[in-house]
Order: sequence, then C-alpha cells, then structure tokens
Amino acid sequence: MKPVKVALIGAGLRGINYLEYAIHQPHELQVVAVAEPVAERRRAFQVRHGIPEDMCFESADALLASPKLADAVLICTQDRQHYEPTMQALAAGYHVLLEKPMSPDPGECIRMAEQAERANRVLSICHVLRYTPFFSTIKELLDRGAIGRLMSIQHNENVGYWHQAHSFVRGNWRRKDESSPMILAKSCHDLDILAWLADSECVRVSSFGSLTHFTAAEAPAGAPLRCLDGCPVADGCLYYAPRQYLTDNTDWPTSAISDDPSYEARYRALQDGPYGRCVYHCDNDVVDHQVVNMEFANAVTVAFTMSAFTRDVSRTLKLMGTKGEIRGAMEKNEIEIVHFGSGKVETISFGGVDGHVGHGGGDMRLVKDFLRLVRADGKGDSLTSAQRSVQSHLIAFASEQSRVDGQVVSLEQFARQQ
Ligand SMILES: NC(=O)c1ccc[n+]([C@@H]2O[C@H](COP(=O)([O-])OP(=O)(O)OC[C@H]3O[C@@H](n4cnc5c(N)ncnc54)[C@H](O)[C@@H]3O)[C@@H](O)[C@H]2O)c1
Repeated sequence: MKPVKVALIGAGLRGINYLEYAIHQPHELQVVAVAEPVAERRRAFQVRHGIPEDMCFESADALLASPKLADAVLICTQDRQHYEPTMQALAAGYHVLLEKPMSPDPGECIRMAEQAERANRVLSICHVLRYTPFFSTIKELLDRGAIGRLMSIQHNENVGYWHQAHSFVRGNWRRKDESSPMILAKSCHDLDILAWLADSECVRVSSFGSLTHFTAAEAPAGAPLRCLDGCPVADGCLYYAPRQYLTDNTDWPTSAISDDPSYEARYRALQDGPYGRCVYHCDNDVVDHQVVNMEFANAVTVAFTMSAFTRDVSRTLKLMGTKGEIRGAMEKNEIEIVHFGSGKVETISFGGVDGHVGHGGGDMRLVKDFLRLVRADGKGDSLTSAQRSVQSHLIAFASEQSRVDGQVVSLEQFARQQ
C-alpha cells in the first residue's frame, strides 16, 4: 500500500495532533508539505516530518498556488480562515479534511459542500466524536433496537470552569466576531452527534442562554486587569492564571499560551498575552451557559445543555426509549443499558482510552477513515461528509438565531433563507 500524501495548512495545535498519525503509521500516511506563517511552528513541523525546504510555505495561498503537490490537504486554521483555502483546494483537485466549524457563515458551509460535490472530491469535517468507541457504540445500540424506539435524549456538554476560562474567556474562541458563537465553536460536535443519534431531520429548535459570570459586573472588588498585577483575591480565585499556567505541567492548555514552554516565556505570556488577563476583565462575548431544545421529524425530542460551570470536562447523556434507557458518561468512558422488561442493567466500559484525551480516541480514527476515502478516490461513505455536517451546522446557526431573537426557529425556513 502506497502512503497517502498530505499537506497541512495551519501547523497549530489541531493540525500537528492529527498528523502524529504519520509518525506512527508511515506506511499509510506521509506529510509532504506545510503552510504556516509562524516560523518556529513551521520549522518544528518540518523537522518532525522531514519535509524538504521547498515544500514549506508561509501561507495557505502560497501552498495552493503551487502545482498540486499531494493527494489531500488538512485545513486546520482558525474558524474564519476555512472557506477560502477549502474552495481553492477543492478546485485544485485535492481531497480535504477540514476542521470544525466549517465556517461561521451558513452560506459558506453550504457552498463548500456544493463545491466538493461539483469537484467530486472528499470533503470531510473533523466531527471526531462520531469516531469514538463511546458514541459509535451508542449508535449501534440504538440501530439494533436495544432500547426499543428512541423517544427522548437529554445531553449535557460539561465544558469545565477552567476550560471555559482558557478557551472561551481569555482564548481564541472568546468573541463571536473573531471566531464563532459558542453553540457553533464548542457545541457543533454535540448537535452533530445528537442529529446522528436521533437519526432524522431536525424540524424546530428553541434556545436560551447568556454570558453571565465572566463579566466585569461579577469581578471581585479590587481585581486588577491582569492576575500578575498584585491581585488582592489571588488566593481564593479559581482563575488565577499563574496557578493554571506556571506549574511543571506544560501540556495543553499551558502549551497554548506560548510556543516556548520555558518558565520565563510563560511568565512573559502572562504579563503581556491574553492568558494573563483577569477573567472578569476580558473582551469576551460568547455565552457561558446555553440550552437548546430540538424536535425531530420522527418525533424524537432533545434537550441539550452546555455549561461552563462543571468540574469535569465531559459529555453525559441519557437516551430514553420505549423499552429501556441508555446512560453514558464520556469521561468515565462507560455506557449503562437499562432494560425495562427484565430490569437488567448492562454496563459497557471502554478501557484503555481516557474519555477526554484525543476526543476519546476519535481523532486518530477520523484520520484513518479519511485516508480510506482518499485511497478510494472519494468512493464510499463518510460518516462526517460535508453534506452531513452542513445539516448539523444549520442546527447550530438556527439555535443561535433562536437564542438571540427569542423565537422558535423552523429549520426548513432557516435553510431556505441561506
Ligand atoms: N475537532 C475538534 O474537536 C477541535 C478542537 C479544537 C479546535 N478545533 C478547531 O480547529 C481549528 C484550529 O484550532 P487550533 O487550536 O489548532 O488553532 P491554532 O491557532 O493553534 O492553529 C491555527 C494555525 O493556523 C496558522 N495560520 C494562520 N493563518 C494561516 C494561513 N494563512 N495559512 C496557513 N496557516 C495559517 C496559525 O499560525 C496557527 O498556527 C479551529 O477552527 C478550531 O475551532 C477543533
């Protein structure tokens, strides 16, 4: 088997994570080019994958202006930088693996899916949860009627208080105008999984939520703009930045604050960079808690809650059917099936994989499946095709519209307006 040749656009945290696959399975995947404007990241990635100098580019535009140099590209830039490179790459004949969210603009999501169809290329979206043993087992159980006919789903996305502060208060996804609304940036995974499990068209949504805690109005008296500026409440504050970022552990999320992991570089990042700011004095505007109610064409109803205010970073859900219940906790990587008739309770545990690391094993399985599709030149079904992802992205956009306007939104009407 010849390895699939890929180029990476955006050698940030996600891109380098996926392409570790090539280090472990070099007979399946070879990284032949990279586009990354930050010189140290480009260089580190070049060295890791042994990429020749003339295959290292400073931007997506420069890479895509070259004659076709790989079978596929991975597009792992930030949310608002997905559309242009995806359209160009598909037109140039590349298969594309694109990070979620596809785009913060529903029209762009639709156009990318159409372009992939026209160009007859694979466009897969990184909805990694569909590839986890945890969710794929729940899907199999539903498909074989383990709890009769599915009626309701209750699903919680437990963001984790410190994770909210890191990514959605201080970090890259804190502002709608710079990335996307929380329901898209964080919860498009959940809406995608819920639509997959409900196995039907979403008909209507309603949503409520707001940014309530991480605001100046909630700041403790005397809290300065930056934690290092002599904060008088440092000892009792859950979000005191040095306690999070200046420990011996330099893994994520600390790795996100500085390319240089030394103590001095991290200290400087807290003095000058976004991650040293007081969480009550940032320029964030995305919500810290939100609920979405969904009605599907097959009468399944879903209640979804996203909340920052949880200890665990995890997903917990209960699926209610006519003959039983399935309960799952992703951080425990465990599923419980309750059978009404016999009263029996079965437990399925997925040992070995932490429910949180690498999205419960989903990251690497997603890459493997993308390689399968590229090898078949696009023939075969993708669990996370752009077509499918457009549907779940539209649920996220419609939910945000409902939250902002205070109205129930019909998906059919919403899709027609795009
Ligand atoms: N699938 C998931 O579960 C998941 C999880 C987290 C983030 N994401 C998404 O992944 C994407 C990337 O997130 P990240 O945390 O890796 O971000 P990041 O900021 O670490 O990486 C993005 C990289 O793109 C580079 N870049 C900027 N402009 C470029 C250009 N013109 N050409 C090439 N590269 C360019 C940046 O320098 C940076 O290194 C985002 O859209 C994010 O929402 C997905």
